[in-house]
Amino acid sequence: MTRMHPHSFHGKHRLLMPCQAMLLCSLACFCAIPLSAQPPTGRTAWWREAGFGMFIHWGVYSREGRGEWILYQEHIPLAEYRLLAEKFQPREYRPAEWVALAKEAGMKYMVITTRHHDGFCLYDSRVSDFTAQKTGPRRDLIAEFAEACHREGMRLGFYYSLQDWRFPGVLPHGGPLSREILEPMVQQAHQQVRELLTRYGKVDILWFDGLWPADPEAWRSKELCAMARKLQPEILINDRAGLPEDFSTPENVVAAQGRPWESCFTMNRTWGYAPYDRNYKPVHEIIRLLASCASQRGNLLLNVSPDGDGRIPVEQVETLRRVGQWLKQYGKAIYGAGPSPVIAPNLGFSGRVGNKVYLFLQRWPGSTLPFAWCGSRVQSARLLADGRTAHVEQKDDRVWIRGLPDYPPDPYMNVLELEFDGEPKGTVPAYR
Ligand code: GLC
Repeated sequence: MTRMHPHSFHGKHRLLMPCQAMLLCSLACFCAIPLSAQPPTGRTAWWREAGFGMFIHWGVYSREGRGEWILYQEHIPLAEYRLLAEKFQPREYRPAEWVALAKEAGMKYMVITTRHHDGFCLYDSRVSDFTAQKTGPRRDLIAEFAEACHREGMRLGFYYSLQDWRFPGVLPHGGPLSREILEPMVQQAHQQVRELLTRYGKVDILWFDGLWPADPEAWRSKELCAMARKLQPEILINDRAGLPEDFSTPENVVAAQGRPWESCFTMNRTWGYAPYDRNYKPVHEIIRLLASCASQRGNLLLNVSPDGDGRIPVEQVETLRRVGQWLKQYGKAIYGAGPSPVIAPNLGFSGRVGNKVYLFLQRWPGSTLPFAWCGSRVQSARLLADGRTAHVEQKDDRVWIRGLPDYPPDPYMNVLELEFDGEPKGTVPAYR
């Protein structure tokens, strides 16, 4: 069985209660995700092994520093918003540096907002006059970004909001929208997606958002995705045009699915630049999210919010660098990992890559680490922090790893590598 429950769409995840999310995880681990460690094949293979990507929310709103929803939130008149677009002149925009940072952080792909709900195109759309080319920047910011990615062999993703708040009659959200109101916005979306997929070379990911009303028929989503695949046969498409397509996108929550999935997270609590939002997740929390996703065969798409000049805030840069350093040492436990049948649930997550099981230790056990319900022989154990081997004692399904340091050597997350002399097996179905 490869799928237990129907595809979950974006909107639904927001309504998940923590207990429901946990249930979904357990279901996915029990039944939906085959526990075989075969590396994925086909079009989605690179993405399923990628583990970690960079999300970028950037636009006119970034200069204002109050998040990406200001047009709606503050009901800014369009003429006034256009003036803000004139003032948006990112003089420090050097996409090659963003790509270098993503690489340093251990990220394998990047997804940038080519257009958010405010309708502002960071690229030179010919079917809109609200674009970077025709306002403050006077240049195609996406062309520069795409070029930087291609030059560095970085996988390129385009976020595109179907919703465009500037169209008459679409705000405020809530009520039903007539065909007359919707149709011009839908037409524009189809034309702009075509532009994005024909003018910037190879695009690896199309990341839709803003399907309001949530009616894929009204948006002609089937036709839209078919066009995208025709133009870019290898492209991966997310589920937010209201169709399952290639992967699901739980937002600010880790919720494993019985199909490819990616959790997107903010680093503080805002997607767009918001300098006064100081609720930054510490490095160990980002690493915990990464391990939690990877051990359930999901990706983490972590957001950065450059300011109006094109600078990624220093707190975000620092965190990404530290995560990158951690990944240099521990990446083998993250990239290409999937769920493990051998678990130590009271200590942390466990992931599997081939014949190896990685225990991500959220709680340090002291010098002896006991676990049980193990159905195959543990050959050796190694602490990835310093490469030291530990002594393995096994009696039937019970295992003791001895000779570990008394206190945790890595300040962020310690990982113990267990090597099995064949396929790692549990004696009971894993639960998480
Ligand atoms: C939501 C928000 C949006 C953000 C996105 C990221 O749809 O409307 O501001 O871009 O989620 O997943």
